[in-house]
Amino acid sequence: MEIRLDGKRALVTGGNSGIGEAIARELAKAGAKVAINYVSHPEAAEKIIQDIKNDGGEAISLHGDISDPTIVEHIFNQIDDTWGGIDILVNNAGVDGVKSDGWEADINDWRQVININLMGSFYCARQALKRMVSQSNGVILSTSSVHEVIAWTGHSAYTTSKAGMSMLTKTLAQEAAPYNVRVLALAPGAIKTTINQDVWNNQQGLNDLLEKIPLHRIGEPDEVAKMAVVLVSDVASYVTGRTIFVDGGMTDYPDFAHGG
Ligand code: BGC
Repeated sequence: MEIRLDGKRALVTGGNSGIGEAIARELAKAGAKVAINYVSHPEAAEKIIQDIKNDGGEAISLHGDISDPTIVEHIFNQIDDTWGGIDILVNNAGVDGVKSDGWEADINDWRQVININLMGSFYCARQALKRMVSQSNGVILSTSSVHEVIAWTGHSAYTTSKAGMSMLTKTLAQEAAPYNVRVLALAPGAIKTTINQDVWNNQQGLNDLLEKIPLHRIGEPDEVAKMAVVLVSDVASYVTGRTIFVDGGMTDYPDFAHGG
């Protein structure tokens, strides 16, 4: 079965690196027009756009910090101006923040993680839904994490933001379903990107991580991206309001392979 998204207009936030980049490239391969939002490294965004164009696709880059609702509105207006609307939003921009136990966490760091991961996703979803509800068509897919269900010492802002994203997904899905708009989340486990480079780049960190993954390997960004394409396509036309885990079994709690 070949999945096609020809003519669909997509925005990927944080689309110039890691999982976001992989999703942007995979959407374009399936025929979607892709707007790549980014905050830093414009050259990375330009390179992806050029690659997509060289392959015969359509892509634009949109600079802007999605934790600011005014900037988000501007980003969506730019997409309207270019393509006349939007069909797919991939809420992907996110940070994991400074590692710190909750009682020592800097409040501004904590707030920033929530502002980007949760508030930013909401601002984008809000703009997308205004448009999708009125056209009675569209899909929102947010990049969550296994840490929407697995606690993670030192990362209370991150885990809280992702748990919030799960309920945001469910509630927006319920609200938008009568308008033929699906709202989903995708929860990667340990995927090889710069966000967790410190861990997979040192042997001890890597061994520790692999013990947490039943498939016993780190995932590749394109393994997440391919699932993203499935979820935003009509192949998943009856799936909404759920988080789909792409985690090599991490949320299967491999410690329970023995004892209990
Ligand atoms: C984090 C990664 C981490 C993975 C598994 C992700 O949400 O961004 O840094 O390796 O969860 O713990």
